[in-house]
Amino acid sequence: MIPQDLHIRKVKFADLPLLEWDGEFLHFRKLYENVYQRTLKHRAVMWMADTKAEALVGQLFIQLNSRRTDLADGSFRAYLFGFRIKPAFQSLGIGGAMLAKAERELAQKHFRRICLNVVRTNERARVFYERHGYRIIGPDPGLWHYEDNEGVWHDLEEPAWRMEKELK
Ligand SMILES: CC(C)(COP(=O)(O)OP(=O)(O)OC[C@H]1O[C@@H](n2cnc3c(N)ncnc32)[C@H](O)[C@@H]1OP(=O)(O)O)[C@@H](O)C(=O)NCCC(=O)NCCS
Repeated sequence: MIPQDLHIRKVKFADLPLLEWDGEFLHFRKLYENVYQRTLKHRAVMWMADTKAEALVGQLFIQLNSRRTDLADGSFRAYLFGFRIKPAFQSLGIGGAMLAKAERELAQKHFRRICLNVVRTNERARVFYERHGYRIIGPDPGLWHYEDNEGVWHDLEEPAWRMEKELK
């Protein structure tokens, strides 16, 4: 059951350290700072969920605008990424509630489509998205890179499925 005091809200600047999950995602510090800067220009949205006892239970980010217009083009198509719920809070319905809230706001902004990449080995997440109306539109090589907190660049290859949903 979803915790009664669950609060789904936008990430503020002071919340950024929470997204590092006590060090587990410290390497994404710069990435998160960049996404936050994009939120100030209305090019991205960062959602998080908390409860009275837990400062962060989950997060979900949306790219509204990207150089990669096949992912996000600023008006029609948006891209979901960085979606994760802390293990102790998984399978309580929190992810579904966050997804619904993010989709509702996108529809209000007149976006028509939301897409994402799910790593091919992550079957449970694929099933989760299918249950929420997403369908696989094809494979994606999952090539991406990021600069870690020490300024070192990392190239990743995470073969994925591209999934998409039409927003009502
Ligand atoms: C996928 C995820 C965001 C869903 O959030 P959630 O709050 O657990 O989802 P809900 O409670 O609304 O729905 C539960 C469903 O989520 C999926 N799920 C639950 N735990 C999961 C996990 N560790 N990994 C992948 N999917 C998971 C399952 O489909 C589950 O259904 P089931 O309980 O019948 O198996 C969350 O489980 C998670 O953070 N997983 C690990 C990271 C991840 O896979 N993120 C998605 C990257 S594209």
